[in-house]
Amino acid sequence: MLKAQILGTGYAVPEEILSNADLEKMVQTSDDWIVSRTGIRYRRIAGDGVATSDLAYRASRSALEEADIAPEELDLIIVATMTPDMPMPATACLLQHLLKANSAAAFDLNAACTGFIYALATAENFLLGSDKYHHILVVGAEVLSSVVDFTDRNTCILFGDGAGAVLLGKGEGNNGIIATYLGADGRGSSLLTIPAGGSRHPASQETIDQRMHYMQMQGNEVYKFAVRSIPECAGYVLDEANLSTEDVDYFIMHQANIRILQAAAKKLKIPWEKVLVNIGEYGNVSAASIPLVLGEAAEKNKFKTGDLLLLVGFGAGLTTGAALVRWGR
Ligand code: COA
Repeated sequence: MLKAQILGTGYAVPEEILSNADLEKMVQTSDDWIVSRTGIRYRRIAGDGVATSDLAYRASRSALEEADIAPEELDLIIVATMTPDMPMPATACLLQHLLKANSAAAFDLNAACTGFIYALATAENFLLGSDKYHHILVVGAEVLSSVVDFTDRNTCILFGDGAGAVLLGKGEGNNGIIATYLGADGRGSSLLTIPAGGSRHPASQETIDQRMHYMQMQGNEVYKFAVRSIPECAGYVLDEANLSTEDVDYFIMHQANIRILQAAAKKLKIPWEKVLVNIGEYGNVSAASIPLVLGEAAEKNKFKTGDLLLLVGFGAGLTTGAALVRWGR
């Protein structure tokens, strides 16, 4: 059966490291508190003048090279991000220009930390639903440091910058995307927001004075939602594919907090060795989180052909999503 297959992966992180010791100088916190409550030790921070499209470009180049696909062969570029270079034009168009992918359509997609799963499912539908699309670049990229309030200890300890990309093509056989699930519950939309900068609260002196252009979060509620939704989403895609957690070789969950991952693993009754984790090094990179784990693991040749990967995302919206992927072409 025809499937959307991952032909290449890539990732990019800025060089500048922000450690817990650095944060101790900015807000009232401690390395102990951050590590024990979140598992995070470091995040990467884009320097002055580095925007989301720059990180997306580096990740995309790697994915294209690995897949041995030229930029001109791209039919579509989807960039999942909540921190675009600017509200208009789409970061995907800026990336298209940087790559010189002149034949590709390009658009952004915002499903916050679930963005990469949403983009993957969207790309799969383009590939399988039309003869016009053969190669699609799916990118998750964020410069969250541009919307983090570094005076707010509830949020500034969590987030970092980075990008991950996959190149999707199509092929017959067992490998590729097997099942996807996307969900949303707008009733929880106020739990995680950047209140200003849109049509509800356009930029003004007041919005700036009230720090409304920064991320605001009700951490406890988001935590509970995450622990509840991971097993739920995993169940939906496994049921659709008639598979069980025992069939899964690796779980790649959105890296929001190591305690969320541990609680979800316990609920799913899966061995911790099967859960891929890089939150200690990068923090929560929103839409870039899942492709960053995927790209790092692929670079280390962790996966062999036929391995079953379960990707699960959750985030602002509230959004949720999962994808079941059999590795290889
Ligand atoms: N350093 C030290 N103390 C801190 C702190 C920090 N960085 N941040 C909060 N605290 C304090 C709080 O003020 C509170 O103090 P109080 O009891 O005197 O009021 C105490 O620590 C406990 O706060 P609480 O919010 O209950 O901690 P928590 O164990 O829930 O951890 C988060 C907070 C944010 C780490 C956790 O809720 C979380 O990870 N939530 C999910 C966030 C997330 O994943 N967001 C993105 C989703 S895509």
